[in-house]
Amino acid sequence: MATMRVAHSFSELRTLLPSPRTLRTWLVPTMGALHEGHGALIDRAKSEGDFVAVSIFVNPLQFGPGEDLDRYPRTLEADLAFLERKGADLVFLPTAGEIVAGNSRITVSSGPVGKLFCGRSRPGHFDGVLTIVLKLFHLFSPEGAVFGEKDRQQLFLIQSMVRDLDIPTRVVAHPTVRETDGLALSSRNRYLTSEERSRAALFPTLLDQAARLWRDLPGHPSQNRLEVCDTISRRLSEGGFVVDYVAIADRETFLPVTGPVIPDQAFLLAAVHIGKTRLIDNRELSTGV
Ligand code: PAF
Repeated sequence: MATMRVAHSFSELRTLLPSPRTLRTWLVPTMGALHEGHGALIDRAKSEGDFVAVSIFVNPLQFGPGEDLDRYPRTLEADLAFLERKGADLVFLPTAGEIVAGNSRITVSSGPVGKLFCGRSRPGHFDGVLTIVLKLFHLFSPEGAVFGEKDRQQLFLIQSMVRDLDIPTRVVAHPTVRETDGLALSSRNRYLTSEERSRAALFPTLLDQAARLWRDLPGHPSQNRLEVCDTISRRLSEGGFVVDYVAIADRETFLPVTGPVIPDQAFLLAAVHIGKTRLIDNRELSTGV
């Protein structure tokens, strides 16, 4: 097994990246606190490319005032051991000084979709995500990059950026990895107390219920379908969650579906707070017709 190399600066990175003519580089951008969800992204990257690079950077541009930037879990030693076991070829640990310094004038705009759903409660979040992802794409020029479907809106926006700005990197989506009770793996799950952790399983359970309700209502007036959001919101509140939003987005445009025309294919998106922790998840909706 080849040794995993670690780059801390742009110049180190340049010396460690293979030439695109010899090896196909695939990138998995992360903020660290790695778990099996990231592991699945790395496995996917390994199945697509010859050289797998992982970046770890807790990106301040995507955190708003009062959010969890300071307490975001930083577990570098465990992350490096994890990446070594997963067989990553290169880890990039940029410093904020180098990767975001002077980055206040020009940023990527995530457009109207970036202001919806998670973007409504986290203004500027997706601009920050896209800005850093674009920088990473420039630094690595990867053939492809893998992102998780749990962050469905992020994924849509990265796919849109790549298409709209003609970036020659393939973006591959990988399915959400879940605990046995359905909770999506997330670095933020480690904030949950054990009591919150057991209650958190209701979140994916209710989203599954919603997807079933949606599927079983074809042919019903559109309003019935949209009521799924209210029903699930109410049940989440009864279950002790503070609901940020439950919404349906069109699969193609990612705009909110509000009727009267209801597409057969859509996404159910939700964000909730449990204690001090914000959880997000989503489901693909289809009427099964
Ligand atoms: O999904 C994440 O972990 C982050 O938003 C990303 C894509 C690494 C950008 O900082």
